Formats: sequence, C-alpha cells, structure tokens
Amino acid sequence: MFPKSYFTPFIALLLLLPNNTSAQCSATCPPLESGVPVASLCQGDVFSSSQSSTSYSTCYPSTGPASINFADLATSYDFIVVANYFVGCNAGRRESGVYAYSSQKLHDLHPNVVFVSTVKGGGCTSWSKTYKDFAESTFDYTVTSMPITVSDNDYSLRDSLFTSPFPHPSYVILDSSLTVRYKFVGPCCGHESYTECSIDTATTLDDTLTSVLDELLDSVTASPTPAPDTSTSSPTPAPAEVTLSPTSSPTQADLWSEWSPCSVSCGEGSSFRFHNPSPSIIESKTCTAPNSCPTYTAALTYTTIASSLNKPMDVAFHPAPGTHLGAISETRSFPTSGLEAWVANSGNHSVSIVPGINTASTTTISRRDRGYYHYNTNVAAISFNTVSDSGRDEEKDTFGYFATCQNNPNNYLGTKESNFFMGPSLYDSRPTNRNIVNLAGEQCGDDEVCYFLHADMLHEAPNCVGIVHDPERMTAYGSVFFQIDGWNEQIVRFDFQQPHGPGSMQHAVASVRRFPENPIKPSLEHHAGMAIDAATGLLYFSDYGGGVVRVMNSKSGENARTARSEYPIFSSRLPSFEYSIYECADHKVWADVEEPTGLAIDGGRLYVASGGNSIQVFDLETGVKLFNVDTTTTYENIQGLTVGDDGAIYFVDSVANELVKLEVDVGDDVESPRNPEWTSFLSDNNDLSIKGVNCRMNLYSTKSTSTQVTPATTKQWQL
Ligand SMILES: *[C@@H]1O[C@H](CO)[C@@H](O)[C@H](O)[C@H]1NC(C)=O
Repeated sequence: MFPKSYFTPFIALLLLLPNNTSAQCSATCPPLESGVPVASLCQGDVFSSSQSSTSYSTCYPSTGPASINFADLATSYDFIVVANYFVGCNAGRRESGVYAYSSQKLHDLHPNVVFVSTVKGGGCTSWSKTYKDFAESTFDYTVTSMPITVSDNDYSLRDSLFTSPFPHPSYVILDSSLTVRYKFVGPCCGHESYTECSIDTATTLDDTLTSVLDELLDSVTASPTPAPDTSTSSPTPAPAEVTLSPTSSPTQADLWSEWSPCSVSCGEGSSFRFHNPSPSIIESKTCTAPNSCPTYTAALTYTTIASSLNKPMDVAFHPAPGTHLGAISETRSFPTSGLEAWVANSGNHSVSIVPGINTASTTTISRRDRGYYHYNTNVAAISFNTVSDSGRDEEKDTFGYFATCQNNPNNYLGTKESNFFMGPSLYDSRPTNRNIVNLAGEQCGDDEVCYFLHADMLHEAPNCVGIVHDPERMTAYGSVFFQIDGWNEQIVRFDFQQPHGPGSMQHAVASVRRFPENPIKPSLEHHAGMAIDAATGLLYFSDYGGGVVRVMNSKSGENARTARSEYPIFSSRLPSFEYSIYECADHKVWADVEEPTGLAIDGGRLYVASGGNSIQVFDLETGVKLFNVDTTTTYENIQGLTVGDDGAIYFVDSVANELVKLEVDVGDDVESPRNPEWTSFLSDNNDLSIKGVNCRMNLYSTKSTSTQVTPATTKQWQL
C-alpha cells in the first residue's frame, strides 16, 4: 500500500492508459497531440542545440569510449544512427536486440556509420547485455562494438531528438553536419509485451535500416571519408581515472590521508581525512582555530510589504517582474518595476502577487487556480525557474514557470476520502495562451477576474511541505523541482520534462525519483525551506523534526529500482513515465538548527529561520554560523523566506499574515571564516567533503509482492 504503517486502504487510482495504439505510433513530424504542433527536430532540421556538444557517458561497449558527444561523432563518421528506448518498454527490449545485430552488421559493412542507442529509466548496463545476448543467439552474429549505448538519464537526447509525443522505440539518422536525414518509428511500437512483437516483426527494423542507409551512403560514395578503425577508436578519449593526490602518500600501514587543515581561520570548524584506496570513506573531527571570530550585533529594520495575507507559508520572487500582471489586470493598474514577490497562502489556497516592491506603488492582488481545491490545496511552498541564460531552445525553455507544493493528501478540502494522488503543480507565469482564464475557462481579459490554469501536474508526493527549482542545465526544458513528501518523509525529484500545457492531461512524459535515504521528519504544520546552490548542485533543506539542516548532492545517487511496486499511486503506466527509487546519493547533516523552517542561499550565505522567531545566518562554504537575527516579540511565526536582489531578507509570518522586508545591519562587513588552506586541500582532493560512505544499492524491493494490494475500486477522480 502507499507506505506508512498506519495507513488505511486508499480507494482511488487514476490510470491514464493508451487506448489508441496506432495513433500513438504515428511518425508525423512535428508530432501532434490535440492538433497543436510541437517544436521538434524533423527531417532536414539541424541538431545544433547545446545538447550536440554535451558529453554523454556510455555504458556499452566496455571497450569503447567512456563518453561521446555528437559534435565529435560527426567529425569521425558520415552518418550517426540514434535509437530511443525506455527501459520499462518490453517490446522495445525485443527491438533493441534486433538493433544490436543490425548496427553491428551494418557498421562492419560501412565503418563510416556509427550506431548509438540511448536508454532512459536506469539499468543501462543490464539492458545492453540483454540485447547483445539476444542478437548473438538469434542471428548468430558476433556483437562487439555496436551500438554505443548512452544512459540518457536527463532525457536531454530524447527531448531534443525525439520530442514527445513522438513515439518510441524510434530512430533518427544524422549526417556529418548533424542534419536529420531520416526519422522513423520502430516496428515494435504499440506492442505491449515482449512476445507480442514477434521476431519477424522486430526484424523489419534491419530491412529499414539497411535500405535507408544504402540510399544515404550512395550519396557520399563519391567522396568517402576515411573509415575510422572502430575496434580501437574512441571518438572522445576516455577520461583519465580520477586520481586523488593526497598530501602524503599513504603506505600499507597508513591507509589514511593526512588530516585536512582546519576549515576555519577563526572559531570552531572541522577537519577531515579520507581513506585510500577508497577515498569515499571519510573521517572528520572538530578543530579550533587560534583566534575566535568577531561577534556581530545585528540592527534590524522591519517593513511590512503586504498584510492581510491568509496563513502565508512561503514567498518567492518572480525573475521577470511585470510578466504576469502587465500594466493592467482585472481592471486594476500595476507597477511593472521594482521587485515582485509571490506569496503562497495556505489558508485560502491562493497566491498573493506583490509587485512594485521598493517603489512608491507597491500593491497586492490575490489569485487562485480555478481548481484550487486540488491544484493548490493548502499550498505550502512556491518556487520559480529563475535561470534566464540557460542556452536552451526558446520553445522548450521554462524560464519564469513556477511550481507550487500542496500540503494535502488530496481530499478536495475534506469533501472526499484522501486518495494520496497529490503532487506539485506547474504554471507558466506568462498571461497568454490560456495560462490565465476567466471563470468560464477562456483566456482571461483585462476586465475580468482571472484564474491560473496549470501547465502540468505530477502526483507522487502527498502532504508536500517544501519545493525548490533545480537550476541544472542538462535537461531540455529546465522543469526539474525537488520537494519534500511529508507523508512518506522523503525527498522527491520531479522532472516535469515537457509541460503538457493548458487544457491537457497528458502525464506520461515525466520522471519522478524518490530519495528515501535522507532520514527527514517534516512537520505538517510548518513550511520546510529548500535551496540549491547553482554553483555546486548541493541541495540544502530544513528537517524540522530532526532539528537540522541537511544537504544532499542533487546530481548524485543512482537508479536502484522501480518505485512502482512500493509506491503504487503514480501518474502513468507508460514506460515514458519514469518512477524510480534513487539510492546512494551523497548527503549529510549540515548544521544543527532548532525547528528550522524557511531557508535561502544568497551571496555565499545560508539563511534559515529557526523556531519561528529567529533567522540564523551561516557561511555556506564552512557551515560556520556568522550571526543570529532575533525577531522575538516582533515576529514569532516565520515560515518561508528568501533574499531579494536588494540584499534584504523577505519572510512571511503565518500568524501575523504579513510579508515582511527585513534589513540587517551588522556594522562591519562580515568576513567569511573560511581557511584558504582548507579550500585548496578540498579542491586538490576532488571535493570529498560530502561523498557517501561505502554505499551499496538495494536493487530489489524489500516488500514481498503479497503485501502489494491492488486497488479494490478504480474510480476516476476529477482533476
Ligand atoms: C485569500 O485571503 C486573503 C486574506 O483574507 C484575501 O485578501 C484574498 O482575496 C483571498 N484570495 C482569494 C483568491 O480569495
């Protein structure tokens, strides 16, 4: 059942199953869904986005290159064939075996053609072993070097080359200018199981590849490119093994590195050493610098920016003020300059937009989703995609989108039994394209009351208490958010990938990864702050019940197994929907903070509200507390907070119902207590400070299948 020991049976489950497989295997490009063309690479288009120079690590063959990038492949080969597979697609597994045979055979015949296979959803190594074995036993042909298999973990190749709803399995053939010469759907598309796609059907892939390549190769035979010797060629040289350079080389007897210098040049810090030859094993101890740190007394200035909020839990700044409201909305005029704060009101499931901060015309307007009782019920957190210079294709970039997190098990304001089908809602904050609608659901005009219309929603984290956008640059859309599932007490990563857009309910294209190894104790009465340091990818988050701030490397962890059997409420059964459990992410306790709530990173510092009545300010690099801001008697229920471009702290108080600007003056410039020698030790040694300790992944579910309950009734809930 949905985990948590005292949970009673849930009653509803929404399954969005395909009903028309032939339409789903249409090779129309751009692919169509409800008649709206999707920006996509079609025959004749050039694969020139930032992804073509991105390096992708490979999992097969083991003797091949450790990573590839398409720009480099194009300089060595006349044609690049790329296959698109999902690990959960069983018919695709059959087809990938034919591809392995066909690609080895055709590559042996035409060494100027290279074959790439991209796998999504984990299990890259075992998947490629399966298709190699199948190819060799079925076709009696030795498979040695093809296809080069890439683990497309971020879905960036799928989203660039095979933009959904283009079906799968599918293929593109690129020439040496990275122009798409042919794009097609594989013969097993639409078949549900491995055996349902017969070997004969699957083998037609070989006929298609052979005839298309014959034709394409005819066009280049006049000026053949010298064929690279693939048995040894590595388009990208394998990166050298990571070599650690410990300050003293350990002997047999001494397997530990020297202790690092103390992290601080004043006050108390920490020192660590690492094991050789297993440098992921770390030992640390506290250390004290000879001098104590200066103490700072903070002089505080409070300004109420907005009042009469409704149990506000979080605040975030819009990265492009004026975008949403414009100069006029709902017959009111609004300032478009100054900072623009968005407040999540848990009390009436609304957002208060506060434009014109630091101008004379600050004002507030409250707005809700038309279906607020589901999409924003008891909203507990809000976060924007603020990455303005991602280099992504403009049509795909989700800059200025925001997501909200709902602290509710999906009971429709208490009118229905909880079904736990709840998760983050995604919105495009631009007011066009039905992103805001009137009560009738039509594009909202300037003279009527407007409502948000969501761009996407995922459903795997009930009772969410915190959310943050991931400023990564690998994915094609930039719609990755981490949030805290307060029901299961876990960190969950949601990649919305391609938003389904207003008016659609397509949830089959997304990836959701659970990180159960962070032992958190969220409070359902409080907001949990989360922040990602864009420079390092480190995710910091408040653990209210644990009394600590934790940190996890958002780029670490590995796909251990599917989440579908252990957490059986999920958005889609289709293999394009990844739902997995990630283990062995690097994480640790970062600081002790009593009852931590709102949290923000700014200018090398981490700000965290504690006990509702103080804000503690830490040096981000060393974790040393710089000073404390005491708000007792003025504000005692601080929930979410953030730091404005003006350097002031902005927080919401859920009892005072206010958004407050807090300017802190500590007299002098506060200096970082960081010890430069410690920093150089860290960078000399590959930044080992938060690596996991000898983690082994649990590849199989520990729950026996007999405990998995099939829902007694399947009821369609209104979304
Ligand atoms: C939510 O509550 C606040 C405070 O009472 C109110 O000003 C606002 O208009 C409400 N919002 C909506 C959409 O009803």
